[in-house]
Amino acid sequence: MCGIIGYVGKRSALPVLLAGLGRLEYRGYDSSGVAVGEGKGIRIVRAAGNLLRLKEKLAAEGPPEGTWGIGHTRWATHGEPSVSNAHPQRSGDGLVAIVHNGIIENAGALRKELSAAGYVFASDTDTESAALLLHSLYRALGDPIASFVAFGRRVEGSFAIAAMFSDRPHEVYGIRRDSPLIAGERDTECFLASDIPALLPYTRRVCYPEENGIVRLDRDGLHFFDRDGCACECPSVSVSWDAEEAQKDGYRHFMRKEMEEQPRVVRDTFLSCSEEACPLTEEEICSLDQILITACGSAYHAGLSAREILEQLVHIPVRVEIASEFRYRMPLCSSRALVIVISQSGETADSLAALRLAKERGFKTLALVNVRGSTMAREAERVVYTRAGPEIAVATTKAYSAQLMAMYVLALHFARVRGCLQGDDLPLTQAARELSFGISRCLQGEEQMQRIAQQIYQLHDIFLVGRGLDHTVCMEGALKLKEVGYLHAEAYAAGELKHGTLSLIERGTPVIGVVTQPRLACKTAGNLAEVKSRGARVVVITTQEEAVFAAADEIVRLPRVHPLFAASLAVIPLQLLAYHVGVLKGLDVDRPRNLAKSVTVE
Ligand code: G6P
Repeated sequence: MCGIIGYVGKRSALPVLLAGLGRLEYRGYDSSGVAVGEGKGIRIVRAAGNLLRLKEKLAAEGPPEGTWGIGHTRWATHGEPSVSNAHPQRSGDGLVAIVHNGIIENAGALRKELSAAGYVFASDTDTESAALLLHSLYRALGDPIASFVAFGRRVEGSFAIAAMFSDRPHEVYGIRRDSPLIAGERDTECFLASDIPALLPYTRRVCYPEENGIVRLDRDGLHFFDRDGCACECPSVSVSWDAEEAQKDGYRHFMRKEMEEQPRVVRDTFLSCSEEACPLTEEEICSLDQILITACGSAYHAGLSAREILEQLVHIPVRVEIASEFRYRMPLCSSRALVIVISQSGETADSLAALRLAKERGFKTLALVNVRGSTMAREAERVVYTRAGPEIAVATTKAYSAQLMAMYVLALHFARVRGCLQGDDLPLTQAARELSFGISRCLQGEEQMQRIAQQIYQLHDIFLVGRGLDHTVCMEGALKLKEVGYLHAEAYAAGELKHGTLSLIERGTPVIGVVTQPRLACKTAGNLAEVKSRGARVVVITTQEEAVFAAADEIVRLPRVHPLFAASLAVIPLQLLAYHVGVLKGLDVDRPRNLAKSVTVE
């Protein structure tokens, strides 16, 4: 993934492609490339790094002048950010060039099959499997639309693809499934893009090809086809957004947009972590006698949730340490310990120092990161990647959810390998797989959280209480309220309230209880009754039966979920609450004061 642009018209394509890629830069990327029709072929130029590098390369090599082409900014998913992994990917003889957003889930199987048929791969990307598959289909069928129809039937996963065939001058094709792709036209020019901002300078009327739909751009305009290759209509829709609104998909803030992306990134992370081979061998997993997780901020909270799950599923002792503390301690670990560093950016200075310390001490290290090619990804012995895609809002939402999911999959795998699951682990795997639906439903509860935000945004303090996994969710919720709502929020283990915090509870003090763990529900309910009797206003976020919570002034209901994975749902209303507190206070929720997205200083 990240940004796609395509053009067919009368003027030189390159400036249009580069300008389009420039307008998609905000999404983040680590390499870029263009393919432009030239005489009887396609010329491809790619560069690692930012667009400036691509422009320098184009200037050095002499810019291609054709009037049709495709371009891409890539955020690495399969394979490191490098020239060979950048898009466009092409088939060996240059017949096909494609750019792709999404994940080809059966890329491994396709790679095997195509290799056996004599195709040679030149990159680590899943996209190249798609390019070579399209090549083989086009060779066999001779018609682009028929080839795309067959392609749609063969490929599993999500994709938005723009493609060119070297023997089809002045034509660009698009196909999409579960990934956005839009088309637009102006006079004799046609455009294709993954996002609206790229099209805004040319047209405000855009067409959204249907799921599995195909589009051809040629000198006569746009032509749409359904999944079976039959010509179809695709009415255009008028866009009234300005460029900034368009970058946010119409949401007011990136944070809100990224929250909405959570069902997808959680599903993608489940799929990729389940399918990619675990970076530890079975022998290594069996030999572990301890796990130490270290991280900062939300990633630390994801680690705390992971501890509960690993200990319950894998029956292995797990310690979780804040990276800035860990790096200055003398951690006593067994020589058979695994140190897991969790980080969205892969660059956080304290987490990196913790990783280096763990390596120095000779521990096995594994980095769970979102950014391919980041320092931690390079330096850790083993890596697991989350699939959150670029996150722009400073306060993390989707990357945190992806971290939780990656840890679930890892824990399930460890438990399976170590024989801890006693038989059938399918219900657990199924529960993890279905979390994205639960998250979607939680996001629908926005109105209630907006109302609660109205009630609390002018107050000075709020407490969040829970036990076990619920406490870890409270910690993440409190951090969000502090980060984007500038509200003093304190997370407390519910049973610990009586050792101090209770003295701060007065008439009207807001207390949020998170209650998703059946075996702890009554205990937390008791603690909530204690704060209620001292005048607190109690909101309960829960999967449990309402009757248990006589103390609640308001109940936020969560969909049913396996208790082990409940953190993934319970955090959603808290993210919404923090977001709306920030919005009501008129704050810049995407860029909170004094905070940075990636803290590369100590
Ligand atoms: C900063 C960000 C947080 C993030 C933390 C750790 O404080 O604002 O959202 O959780 O760093 O970042 P990492 O990139 O290591 O996950």
